[in-house]
Amino acid sequence: MPVFNETPLPQQEKKKEQFESPRAKEVEELLSLATSHLIPWIASADDKNGALVVDALPPKKLESVLNLGLPDGAGKGKEGLEEAMKKVLRYSVNTWRDGFMDKLYASTDPVGIASDLLLSVLNTNKFARLFGFDGPHAGGITLPGGSASNSTSMIIAKNTLFPETKIHGNGDKKFVVFSSIHGHYSVEKAAILLGLGSGAVWEVPVDKQGRMIAADLESMVIDAKEKGFTPFYVNAGAGTTVFGSYDPFDEIAEICKRHGMWFHIDGSWGGAVVFSESQKWRMSGAHKANSLTVNPHKMLGVPVTCSFLLAPDRRQFHRAVSLKAGYLFHEQDDDEEEDVYDMAQMTMGCGRRADSLKMALSWIYYGKEGYERRIDHAFDMAKYFATTIENTSGFHLVSENPPPCLQVCFYYTGPSNKLSDNAKFNTEATRRIAAQLVAKGYMVDYSPHPTHGEFFRAVVSSRTTKDTVDNLVAAIEKLGNI
Ligand SMILES: Cc1ncc(COP(=O)(O)O)c(C=O)c1O
Repeated sequence: MPVFNETPLPQQEKKKEQFESPRAKEVEELLSLATSHLIPWIASADDKNGALVVDALPPKKLESVLNLGLPDGAGKGKEGLEEAMKKVLRYSVNTWRDGFMDKLYASTDPVGIASDLLLSVLNTNKFARLFGFDGPHAGGITLPGGSASNSTSMIIAKNTLFPETKIHGNGDKKFVVFSSIHGHYSVEKAAILLGLGSGAVWEVPVDKQGRMIAADLESMVIDAKEKGFTPFYVNAGAGTTVFGSYDPFDEIAEICKRHGMWFHIDGSWGGAVVFSESQKWRMSGAHKANSLTVNPHKMLGVPVTCSFLLAPDRRQFHRAVSLKAGYLFHEQDDDEEEDVYDMAQMTMGCGRRADSLKMALSWIYYGKEGYERRIDHAFDMAKYFATTIENTSGFHLVSENPPPCLQVCFYYTGPSNKLSDNAKFNTEATRRIAAQLVAKGYMVDYSPHPTHGEFFRAVVSSRTTKDTVDNLVAAIEKLGNI
């Protein structure tokens, strides 16, 4: 008896040449490029004359020698990728060698721990500059996801503004933080992690466009102070999860400055617009932030997980979370002015994956221009989608047109072409259609509305075409009328 259902997948029944796919071909080519260098490198670990590191250099030297040259313009394609891969292997510790007996790792990671530690610093400088963090110590760290980046930012904020809490805990400070009612729940999770409790997150109202109302933020901060709380952190959204709104960064920065609070931007989703000349205005004022989360694993298509926490001065990360651990870290002295190369002293973690390498190689391959083309196309598709919804009878657009980001939010109203006031009715219709769409090849999520029930939230991407949009709208119409 076969253990698995052996019915062939639909594509296996077709002849190979029928589904010639340029994307699959590209993947095949790149995989063979990577293995052509990786396999000999791994094999060299078994050569007794081979080296643990082909070229071992101290971090600072390595920073300049490695210089992966992230392109400001066109991507370097296969050639650039190959050159970068060769360099990374040349300067990485070959953890496959049996002489690798450092720290508490088994030698399973082919790229090695050294490339992770060092590349994490390298790439973040250039990335941080795109957000306007242009000081000499700008940069950041990679973390396993936007939630981890947001919570790390909150820890760094608290320990920087109130250094005594790093050793003695929160005491009777009654800390509060602020996020808009559309902010991501990872901010509450962070507050839980810090021992503040989710109730320490005060939710600031939003305007019609889903943007935090700065005047309300300031009133709430003043109110908190009067009641004996200690406001210390504001989370502003760059591409909120449901509507994709961008909060007013300049105004929030001013309020944070006036009240001595840390200004964090959660750009997990929408921060990547900095790669596009025509869309980056959405991040205006972001350079005033104390820290910023951006997830290349979302809009830029870098494999999960790839999230960065960036800042104008990454040395603050070290001061805020580093601990003495002579059995692991062998710093010569504690020069606070020096850049820190050991990423494990800048996060709450220890072991880590080289997530920044994925971003670096992708950037080399596609170039800033490649990312820009993708983002611009996706924004064009969001506008096309919203316009189609507006112009098609039986639909009601919830998003603005053009939408602030890549989410298009709408209801299917049915032939009446009028949005019902019955929230339960709208929710049931949305859920039923969304469930049936899966069999038609579409997966579209939905979100609650404060008064009118759940609505569709379709997220377009660089892959979306006008045909995809038209066919989805037609499929919803058909299912809605059953
Ligand atoms: C605005 C925002 N912040 C944070 C996150 C969490 O990111 P991650 O899933 O990488 O933890 C998300 C996820 O969708 C998000 O939309």
